[in-house]
Amino acid sequence: MGTLSTEFCGIALPNCFANASGPHCVTAEELHALARSNAALVVSKSCTLLPRAGNPEPRYFDTPFGSINSMGLPNLGYQFYSAMAAEIAKQKPYLVSVSGMTPEDNVTIITHIAANVHVHAIELNLSCPNLVGKPQVGYDIEASDRLIAAALKAANGKPLGIKLPPYFDFIHFAQMAEVLNRYPLAFITCVNSIGNGLVIDPETETVVIKPKGGFGGIGGDYIKPTALANVRKFRELLNPSIAVVGCGGVKNGTDAFEFLLAGTQMVQIGTQLYREGPGVFTRISHELEQVMLRKGYQSLDEFRGKLKVME
Ligand code: DHB
Repeated sequence: MGTLSTEFCGIALPNCFANASGPHCVTAEELHALARSNAALVVSKSCTLLPRAGNPEPRYFDTPFGSINSMGLPNLGYQFYSAMAAEIAKQKPYLVSVSGMTPEDNVTIITHIAANVHVHAIELNLSCPNLVGKPQVGYDIEASDRLIAAALKAANGKPLGIKLPPYFDFIHFAQMAEVLNRYPLAFITCVNSIGNGLVIDPETETVVIKPKGGFGGIGGDYIKPTALANVRKFRELLNPSIAVVGCGGVKNGTDAFEFLLAGTQMVQIGTQLYREGPGVFTRISHELEQVMLRKGYQSLDEFRGKLKVME
């Protein structure tokens, strides 16, 4: 067992890193590259019933402090991500991210994917901010409740987690946690991008992405404190049986260390994966090991969730 080894959805893993659904996980080539990387598991692009081309380009823009995107769910359809499972599972555990356009689509997709023995778990996305006219389900507590109930039935015992949008108010954390604690969820992933931000280029006096008048989901450095807050607060409020997966602004080993202190079981990498490619997992794993060595920690459990507060 290495120093970064961990457990997730009943699977022993050599480290705590995975890709965030979104960047570098749409095509077969991208998924194979992740399977060859040092990521401990592979997550697919969020999929829909039918393939989608997504929103008009440019639809992703990198800034010195993070990213803005309005991809619009470009993906090859759930049958493709299900068919990839046999290949990927030869190398590492594979999670399919699901983001159907309707509750019925989600049930259809999850029913199919849950029956695929090569899929280890499902991440149901309640938080895509980029579909014109569609709210983020995660901000509607009752709709989330109904969808989680239906999804768990469809998952038929396959580990199911949900990807949440960031919350910003303690009342909303409490309301969502109360719903989540009623279900046998395997995990939640905190957080998706901060929805509907706006990046402006002052030189050209123009937005930087085309869809939705320039509005899009914000990732990277901008969102790390929000992501840490969501991991920490949900870890405090949720049943211990529900793992919390952290996502948001991780670009080095120290960032990962902070997420682990806040209580994350796994760490997902999005914006930095987009920038650096799958080699990011080797670098960040090594950096986290160096942080642990300097501090005298030999396993993640020695400090996971042990964030100190001031008296
Ligand atoms: C997309 C963006 C998201 O943040 C998400 O959760 C799902 C899909 C997208 O625009 O493709």
